[in-house]
Amino acid sequence: MKALIASGGRGTRLRPLTHTQNKHLIPIANKPILHYAIEAVVDAGIKQIGIIHNADSDEVPKAIGNGKQWGVKITYIPQKSPLGLAHVVKIGQKFIGKDNFIFYLGDNMVVGGVKRFVDEFERSGCNCHLTLSRVKDPERFGVPEIKNGKIIGVEEKPKKPKSQFAVSGIYIYDHHIFEACKNIKPSGRGELEISDAHQYLLDNGYTVGYSEITGWWKDTGKPSDLLEANRLVLDNIQSRIEGNVDKSSSVAGKLILEPGAKIINSVVRGPAIIGKNAIIENSYVGPFTSIGDECLIKNSEVEFSILLNKCTVTDVKIRIEGSLLGNEAEIVEASGKPHVHRFMIGDQSRVEVA
Ligand code: G1P
Repeated sequence: MKALIASGGRGTRLRPLTHTQNKHLIPIANKPILHYAIEAVVDAGIKQIGIIHNADSDEVPKAIGNGKQWGVKITYIPQKSPLGLAHVVKIGQKFIGKDNFIFYLGDNMVVGGVKRFVDEFERSGCNCHLTLSRVKDPERFGVPEIKNGKIIGVEEKPKKPKSQFAVSGIYIYDHHIFEACKNIKPSGRGELEISDAHQYLLDNGYTVGYSEITGWWKDTGKPSDLLEANRLVLDNIQSRIEGNVDKSSSVAGKLILEPGAKIINSVVRGPAIIGKNAIIENSYVGPFTSIGDECLIKNSEVEFSILLNKCTVTDVKIRIEGSLLGNEAEIVEASGKPHVHRFMIGDQSRVEVA
């Protein structure tokens, strides 16, 4: 069994963060999203991983490396343009060969790993194994039609979903998926849809099994998904204090405080993570907050937010909540007169003021 992990695309719904950073490298609890995908397939015993990345950028190969840190071999496969997930599978064929493989969308996060699905695929002997998650908005996803416990159809983003399930971005295949991807036509949005490949398998007598993901699963496409994923990962951390908490500070709940980080005269309520050499001074850090390396939070309050590295938040009177701050972002008290809100924000940024 090999793994093919997709990390391409433009991440348009996560702009402006994705103007300067691949969405799969945005950190959740201070760890790139893509690491969670890699760790999931490594935990399932897979040793050979192919990562599909945008051909015009070496950001992902540079950030992730050759796999040595996980004891696996990572091969990079460039994709010239985002022509759909079935196209991603097509260009992975040379790497996969005749092997069975797990196809994992690098922006999907799932609690409990993927080994159970790999085991079920092997036990069932199906050509394709889909993982389904019950969602409120199936029209945003690939949606299966199920009859008598069997998948009988799959549609991509249907206006009238035939079930309450989303097909998650964790798929397991044998080599027949390549035949399917070769024989489908681009959809209305100009992409080779993975759902059409699944429908091809069904139409041509191949077996498509499934598992239901009963725990938590998220496709981290939107800012609110990132905050939700961050909340969930932080909920499951173990406390580790390697930085310094002074006597006048109080810490309650689970906290990871990385080396060199300092909490001075502040209140921290976990679960939270505070990165290396970050400084929290005269401030409040509330639950479900990830603060990157070398951030400075002074005379301010931050809760349920993700701050990437080297952010500055100083003398802000109103608590910052439900926010995502890119690297080196600054939120500071307005100085001088008149007393105003003063913005210097990048393309496609969003600010909500009280
Ligand atoms: C893609 C697939 C869709 C699947 C989803 C899971 O959607 O096309 O079938 O349900 O991933 O994350 P997209 O992220 O391209 O909207």
